[in-house]
Amino acid sequence: MFSVNEKVLFENGQEGYVSRIRDMLKIEYGESPKASVVTFGCQQNVSDSEHLKGILFSLGYSITDNLEEADFIIYNTCAVREHAQDRVYGNIGKVKGYKKKKPNLIAAVCGCMAQQEIVAEKIKKSYPYIDIVFGTQVSHRLPEFIYKRLSGSKRIFELSLPNEPIVEDVPVLRDGKFKGWLPIMNGCNNFCTYCIVPYVRGRERSREPQKILDEAKAMIEAGYKEITLLGQNVNSYGKGCEHGVTFAKLLRMINDIEGDFVIRFMTSHPKDCTEELLETIRDCKKVSRHLHLPFQSGSSRILKLMNRYYDRETYLSLIKKAKELIPDVSLTSDIIVGFPGETYEDFKETLSLVKEVEFSSLFTFIYSPRNNTPAASMPDIISRKEKGKWFDELLRLQEEIAEKNIEKYIGKTYRVICDDFGSSEGYMSGHTNGTAVVEFKADEEMLGRFVDIKINSYEGVFKGEIIN
Ligand code: 5AD
Ligand code: SF4
Repeated sequence: MFSVNEKVLFENGQEGYVSRIRDMLKIEYGESPKASVVTFGCQQNVSDSEHLKGILFSLGYSITDNLEEADFIIYNTCAVREHAQDRVYGNIGKVKGYKKKKPNLIAAVCGCMAQQEIVAEKIKKSYPYIDIVFGTQVSHRLPEFIYKRLSGSKRIFELSLPNEPIVEDVPVLRDGKFKGWLPIMNGCNNFCTYCIVPYVRGRERSREPQKILDEAKAMIEAGYKEITLLGQNVNSYGKGCEHGVTFAKLLRMINDIEGDFVIRFMTSHPKDCTEELLETIRDCKKVSRHLHLPFQSGSSRILKLMNRYYDRETYLSLIKKAKELIPDVSLTSDIIVGFPGETYEDFKETLSLVKEVEFSSLFTFIYSPRNNTPAASMPDIISRKEKGKWFDELLRLQEEIAEKNIEKYIGKTYRVICDDFGSSEGYMSGHTNGTAVVEFKADEEMLGRFVDIKINSYEGVFKGEIIN
C-alpha cells in the first residue's frame, strides 16, 4: 500500500488494465473523467474507500463529491444494522435519475452489504441500472471490473470470499493530510451471535509487520501526525502467523519509528486485551492513552448468549487493571440495547457497569437482527418501543456522567493536533486523548500541528488556549 496522495501504479496483478482503461476512458468521457465514492459505515469502510479512490485516481479519474457530474459512482456499503442498509437502498435508487442525464455513467455497489447473497440478488432484480456488484475481499480487482464493463460485458457480480492473505500494493488516496487510517488486519473469527461481520468480511487475516511498518514510515514522511491502526479485532493481530509479532509488539515497533506522531487503534476485544498490551500503552510515549473496549452488555447472562467469551466480572477487572497501569486512560465502549432475551434486570446491569466505569463516551445501538446470524432466531419479546425507552435511559445516564466529569478537564493541559476550523472564524479544534473536543484561538497555518492546550471552560464544547 502507499500512503502518499499521488499517482501510483499497481503491482498486484491489476497493472495490465491501467493503460487500457485510461485509453478507453478518454474515448468514452473525454480528457477528465470523474468518479465519486460514497461511503457508509465504520472507519474500516472509510479506509477501504480511500483505497477505492486510490485505484480510481490511478486509472485516470479525478475524484468528485458531486454525484451529478460523476462518470463512475461507487457505493461502499455497511451491513451492521438494518438502518444502514435502508439508507443504501435509498441512495442507489437515485442512480436511475443520474443515468437519465448521463447514459454512459457506470455505477457500482461494494462492501459488507453487497457481500450478502440476498442483497446481491435484490440488486440484480430490482436495481437493473447498477452495473457492478462486488464483495469485501476482491475490491483490488476494481480495474478488471471497470475494464470488462467498459468493453461491453454483462453486469458484473463478484461475491467470492477467498479468505486469502490481504492483497498488498493497492494505491490509496487518503482523505486527511495529517490524520490517516492504517489497516493492519481484516475479518473476524469471533462470531458474536448478533454480528454479521464474520460472514461478510470473512476470516481474520493480518498484514505482514514489515508492510505495516513501511506504510507507517511513508505516512510519517508524508507529514501524517496521527496514525490510527484499524482492524475488527486489533488485539488478535498476528494470531496464527509465523512472524510471532503480537499487537503489543507491533505497537512498540511503530512507536520506535522516528518522528513526532500519535498512534491510535481500534477496535479491541476485551477477551484479547492482554496485560502486555496495557503495559505497552503505558510505556509507549506515542501511543494515545485511549482504549476503545466494547463490552456490549453488563449482564453475564447476556454476554454468554452473545458469545463474547468474558463475563461482567472479567471485564470489570480488566478495566481496573487498565486504570491502575494507565491512570490517565480514557475509555470508550460500544453497547447493544435490547439483545434477544434481555430483560430490564439485565439492562440494569448495563447501566450499573456504565456508572461504575465512567466512560468518556459511548457508542450505543439498539439491537438489529441480521440475516443468518444465530441471534436473529432467538426469541425476542421486548417491543421496539420498550427498547427505545431503555436506550434513552442509557443516554441520559451517560449525559449525567459526562456532565459530572466536565470539571475534571478544566485547568488541564492536553497535547492536541490543530484540526478543522472551530465553530467561528479564527478558532480551531483538537481532540484530547479520548474523544473530548476542545476549541481554541489559532491561525490557519497551525492546521495539522501539535499544540499544548489548556482547557479553561465548557460551553457545549471545551474552550481552551494555546500555552506553547
Ligand atoms: N445490532 C446492533 N448493534 C450491533 N453491532 C454489531 N452488530 C449489531 C447488531 N446486529 C454494534 C456492536 C459493535 C458495533 C460496531 O456495532 O456494538 O461493537
Ligand atoms: Fe462482530 Fe464480534 Fe467480530 Fe466485533 S468481534 S466484528 S462484534 S463478531
